Amino acid sequence: MSGSVSNNGCANKGGALTVYLGHIVDPIDEDNYRDIPEGALVVSSDGLIEAVGNWSELESHYSANAGINARVINCGQKLIMPGMIDMHIHLPQVTQIGKSGDTLLSWLEKYIFPAESRFSDLSYAEKIAAWFFDQLACNGTTLAVVFTTIHKEATDAAFSIAAAKGMRAIMGKVLMDRNAPAALLEDSKKSISDSENLAAKWHGHDDGRLLYAFTPRFAITATDELLNECGKLWQSNPGTYMHTHLSESIEEVKKVSSLFPDSRSYLDVYDRSGLCGSRSVFAHSIHLDDENLNLLHRKKCALAHCPSSNFFLKSGIFPIERVKSAGVQFGLGSDVAAGPQMSIFGVMKDANFIQPQIWISPRELFYRATRGGAKALQLDDRLGSLESGKEADFIIVDPTLKNACPRDILEHETDDILSALVFLGDDRMIDATYIRGRQVFKREEEANASSELHKVRGGKQ
Ligand code: GUN
Ligand code: ZN
Repeated sequence: MSGSVSNNGCANKGGALTVYLGHIVDPIDEDNYRDIPEGALVVSSDGLIEAVGNWSELESHYSANAGINARVINCGQKLIMPGMIDMHIHLPQVTQIGKSGDTLLSWLEKYIFPAESRFSDLSYAEKIAAWFFDQLACNGTTLAVVFTTIHKEATDAAFSIAAAKGMRAIMGKVLMDRNAPAALLEDSKKSISDSENLAAKWHGHDDGRLLYAFTPRFAITATDELLNECGKLWQSNPGTYMHTHLSESIEEVKKVSSLFPDSRSYLDVYDRSGLCGSRSVFAHSIHLDDENLNLLHRKKCALAHCPSSNFFLKSGIFPIERVKSAGVQFGLGSDVAAGPQMSIFGVMKDANFIQPQIWISPRELFYRATRGGAKALQLDDRLGSLESGKEADFIIVDPTLKNACPRDILEHETDDILSALVFLGDDRMIDATYIRGRQVFKREEEANASSELHKVRGGKQ
């Protein structure tokens, strides 16, 4: 594979350009990527990709066009790749990473519900949200699909913080009206009207950098009434998302069938409430029959495969081959805190390791973590790869920042470099993160992120 110059044909209208020089690795599909070792990514001042290609060819194009004003940032042999897309993560759970010893339902009771109850305290919620978005940035995640908590004010604050920090998210307040501690139960009508107000305020903010997801937690903590009203609300807000959990553990599936005896399956509970369709995102989706998979495909639903979480809670194995042969779109999710890491590099590794008999290639995992996720979310016209006209969401990666990585890794074949990212990668390899052309993380500034952490540690977690 070799790269060639491509640009969108639009003349630079005199605004400043920034040119990032480095080794561009850009996903095409499950089996292919574009490989440009001496590449250039040209970004316009409004955060769009103006051109991508070999620097030698682009340089002559730009120098032939007098008046183009470009700043050049030379990243040497470092990799330039699209930012990671985390299709499922819980903001309030960053304080609970690594607390194990249980399967899903008792883990929720023991650690998660108490942690989420603390978000009624707005100043605490603000501190954790700031920490959360800083952590996403230093992990190279440029789009996350985020659960907050039931709390409207805390969710509003999370949106404000993401907006100010330049982060990109699809996010929503959780809806719950049964089977949880009193502090996390809401009146169904208030849960719906709070969600409606938040969506009206935030969906589409800053030209779509922030999008809203209606977020019923899972069938166990929702009445039929809440699910039905949520379905109506989602359908009446075109372009918004619906984000929930589906068929994660066997114990959970059994409980859903006892709570909804008239439903044919767990998925059917959501489908009857109008919660299946394009821009619905189902986390986990492990224990599904072929009829379920066909419905997910027919209705263009997206799945978030969360292998690290599935290992941690011993929930089961995502049926990757059946999902692919049914044509269902999916990407990867960290599912922090059931997933004990935010790094999507680590999630890629677990997506390979969790399959006992199938080898998932680094090429495919790289695609799933980027362009495949964007496609599942119906955002691949704007995000997920480095092509002219798309938004400049990208990361600069230096595998040698991690001591365990071979010192000469950047001299190896690109497939071997990708393999090192998948099997050795974590946040230590991220040198810088950009969202819509704006730098949201740079390694030298790491000290600031950890001082944020120290401030948060002032209180009990
Ligand atoms: N199912 C319902 N809530 C949750 C949650 O917070 N985490 C996970 N992994 N599964 C869930
Ligand atoms: Zn989850």
